[in-house]
Amino acid sequence: MKNKNITELKTLRTEITRFLLSYKFALQEMETKVNILKEEFQVMNEYNPIEHITTRLKTPESILKKIVKKGVDPSFHAIQKSIRDIAGIRITCSFVDDIYKVSDMIQHQQDISVVEIKDYIQNPKPNGYQSLHLIIQIPIFMSDRTEHMYVEIQIRTIAMDFWASLEHKIYYKYDRDIPQHIQDGLKEAASQAAMLDRKMQQLNREINILKQQNPEEDDVYLSNKHLQQLQEKLFFH
Ligand code: GTP
Ligand code: MG
Repeated sequence: MKNKNITELKTLRTEITRFLLSYKFALQEMETKVNILKEEFQVMNEYNPIEHITTRLKTPESILKKIVKKGVDPSFHAIQKSIRDIAGIRITCSFVDDIYKVSDMIQHQQDISVVEIKDYIQNPKPNGYQSLHLIIQIPIFMSDRTEHMYVEIQIRTIAMDFWASLEHKIYYKYDRDIPQHIQDGLKEAASQAAMLDRKMQQLNREINILKQQNPEEDDVYLSNKHLQQLQEKLFFH
């Protein structure tokens, strides 16, 4: 009897490891894809739309919490179908335009199917949260089977990321019950972050126009006059 229990536990452990391994492979596939886009884009366009990439695999404990929260049947099949953020990749871009460029490039890849898009940039969350979220499915090829794994992709600017990581800390510090004045402060900070993103985007567009006008120059050296014109355009119109 005891031996049977141990055998069952061992089998379960192998199954859990195998289950999580599939997500790890999906993340590796996605990370490679994004790194390819990043490198190729750098060569072709001489600039890099992607600042950095991080990946995370949900812990078994956090998966369990979500199963309970969502009332999911505790079987591998049901978990795989209903919990779509076990594998997560976060892409940080310099500019808002780049977020949509990167998102389009990912969506157009033939082996990726897009399951859901949530645009919290067009429609920020009530607390001020902004990011573009994609849920996609990606095939992974193993010794005896092909599996289509869900991956959650979050694409955001540096400013959005800065805001989200502070908000996340505050959320847990106050055990999900943030005092009103801090909620108000966060919302204000989110709109300032969005304003900064818009200004940086405008500046970048202006610089790109100058670059196109001087294509042979490696770097654009802005004259004082140009700088002054840029500043006037940005801040006084
Ligand atoms: P979850 O059940 O929490 O995964 O939410 P959801 O299924 O409604 O998905 P959603 O796309 O709204 O959020 C997915 C992930 O985005 C979260 O797990 C967080 O990593 C991030 N996120 C969403 N909203 C917020 C927010 O208000 N603040 C922060 N810091 N992160 C957020
Ligand atoms: Mg989540």
